[in-house]
Amino acid sequence: MKFFIDTADLGQIETAYSWGCLAGVTTNPTLYARTGGSLADFEAHMLRIAELCDGLPVSAESTAATADAMVEEGLRLASLAPNIVVKLPVCAEGLSACRRLADQGVRVNMTLIFSVPQALMAANAGARYVSPFVGRFDDIAESGVDRLADVVAAVSNYDWSGKNVDGVCEVISASLRTPEHVAQAGLMGADIATVPFATLERCLHHPLTDAGLAAFEADWAKVSAAE
Ligand code: E4P
Repeated sequence: MKFFIDTADLGQIETAYSWGCLAGVTTNPTLYARTGGSLADFEAHMLRIAELCDGLPVSAESTAATADAMVEEGLRLASLAPNIVVKLPVCAEGLSACRRLADQGVRVNMTLIFSVPQALMAANAGARYVSPFVGRFDDIAESGVDRLADVVAAVSNYDWSGKNVDGVCEVISASLRTPEHVAQAGLMGADIATVPFATLERCLHHPLTDAGLAAFEADWAKVSAAE
């Protein structure tokens, strides 16, 4: 399973990238709003992220309401850098725009996926990535991990050759809130987990690792002191 970071914060992206295990970035309008960025700076900000990540896929979400406007905005976003992936919502307008962008070689990440039919329709419309949400199911007392497993199984049933420029459709486990969500995504074989920075940090730490490291440091200090 590959790790993406789910943020538009440049500092968080830079730090996660420095860890050496980052394979991409996903953003959305909420995450961009959290940076305090303006409308005028949106595209420049996406370009900064794309450059920071040196070729890794960076999802930039369109906020347009019609298929025509999504295609127009998607082409503009995709022209910013070769690693920009256009993120679109799974709805009639989004599917139509996805097909048109995919036909022009643009990679699309279809988001706000909550069901197997939505994921399969998106993949058939040329989505390079589909993003089923986990945490938002948990928010309404349903098992997001179980729903994610259904999407992972369904998408892996088919060969997506010819549907998009790479001929593959990867599942991005999205709306992950806890290390356990990340673990479950990995165990079921999801292609990608997109993880907020704070959750990535929690995934990295384990109390036994921290205790082990402290003990090694303390013992090494004794060795050094004996010199
Ligand atoms: C990523 O593509 C999604 O936009 C994001 O994971 C949503 O997460 P949330 O449900 O925590 O807002």
